Amino acid sequence: MFPRTFLKTISAQQQTIRHLCNNHWQNGGGAKSENPTILITGGLGQLGVECGKLLRSQYGAKKIILSDIREPSNAILQAGPYHFVDILDPKGLEKVVVDNKVDWIVHLSATLSAKGELDIPLATKVNIQGMHNIIELANHYKLRLFVPSTIGAFGPDSPRNPTPNITVQRPRTIYGVSKVYAELLGEYYHHKFNLDFRCLRLPGVVSCDLPGGGTTDYAIDMFHSAMTKGTYECYLTPKTTVPMIYITDCLRAINEFLVVPTDTIQRRVYNIHAMSFHPEGLAKEIQNYYPAFEITYKTDPIRQEIADSWPEVLDDTEARKDWGWNPKYDFKKMVQTMVDQVKVFYDEEPQRAKVAQ
Ligand SMILES: NC(=O)c1ccc[n+]([C@@H]2O[C@H](COP(=O)([O-])OP(=O)(O)OC[C@H]3O[C@@H](n4cnc5c(N)ncnc54)[C@H](O)[C@@H]3O)[C@@H](O)[C@H]2O)c1
Repeated sequence: MFPRTFLKTISAQQQTIRHLCNNHWQNGGGAKSENPTILITGGLGQLGVECGKLLRSQYGAKKIILSDIREPSNAILQAGPYHFVDILDPKGLEKVVVDNKVDWIVHLSATLSAKGELDIPLATKVNIQGMHNIIELANHYKLRLFVPSTIGAFGPDSPRNPTPNITVQRPRTIYGVSKVYAELLGEYYHHKFNLDFRCLRLPGVVSCDLPGGGTTDYAIDMFHSAMTKGTYECYLTPKTTVPMIYITDCLRAINEFLVVPTDTIQRRVYNIHAMSFHPEGLAKEIQNYYPAFEITYKTDPIRQEIADSWPEVLDDTEARKDWGWNPKYDFKKMVQTMVDQVKVFYDEEPQRAKVAQ
């Protein structure tokens, strides 16, 4: 028989452990799946604003917290919570996560490919140090973490058509190097600490919103120029082919992938693909809507070199097989939708449209 005081001590210890476990779970231990509070970094960027809208329509406005280092419009402030947070400030990030009991992070802050080549120290800080801060935080509080990667994570040594999910990755931009770092770091934390890290390699994203300094931005610029000026001078050569995706498909992929049960995911990093086209092909299709539209070419050596090192087609067989990825916008449907949506953009968002001109 054990003395009564000994049994009491054991029972108190068990209660403490149970209490700690409960607390850990409530605080996100094992990354909460139901009704999550989600922090979006880079929430005012090309993807962030629309991603915020989609997730809010699904989880509720108050559950989605946008953050960025830019001044938000009144419309953004009225739509739901917004915090000014620099991802290079770990304590500021932690405060937002703790104060709001965040369960998942969708980490969209980044310095993109073309902009990164013009300011390598900035890209290194934002994409590598920032990623490090985010992953440490996600690991500490056991949050689910989504980070987009890119076609820029491949380089001239990778097979270009198609580019497999697993292949050699020797990118030649700081953006690509930092995205490979993010992919590998996420996989490492997953295997070492069981972090629920999820990553999709996105093609260039086509949307009405103003792009943030990527190499595939020409496609968006061409739609805006076709409508406002009737001409466009393209910085890539006519036949430069890269994978692209319409934003609705891109955000649907992120939204669906975020909730795939963890035991059905065979990998933590997946290629997704939707369509591939080149500037000449896009211009021809736009001419079906604006017959007088004219394209000229003046190659920008930095962006041309980047695009020439990227895949032409991503092989997304594994994403299709493992969690049912299936794009709904092909090239023709994307162009038709963009032509319509750019008109709406100029009618409904005159302030933002002014910046686009
Ligand atoms: N747009 C694309 O075609 C594309 C393609 C593949 C992958 N991605 C990835 O998707 C993500 C979002 O891309 P996007 O096109 O919306 O980019 P974007 O440039 O439009 O937005 C990035 C946002 O990050 C913010 N940011 C920059 N530095 C920051 C810092 N220190 N702290 C907090 N926020 C900071 C910027 O203010 C900006 O609003 C990025 O990770 C990008 O690599 C984008």
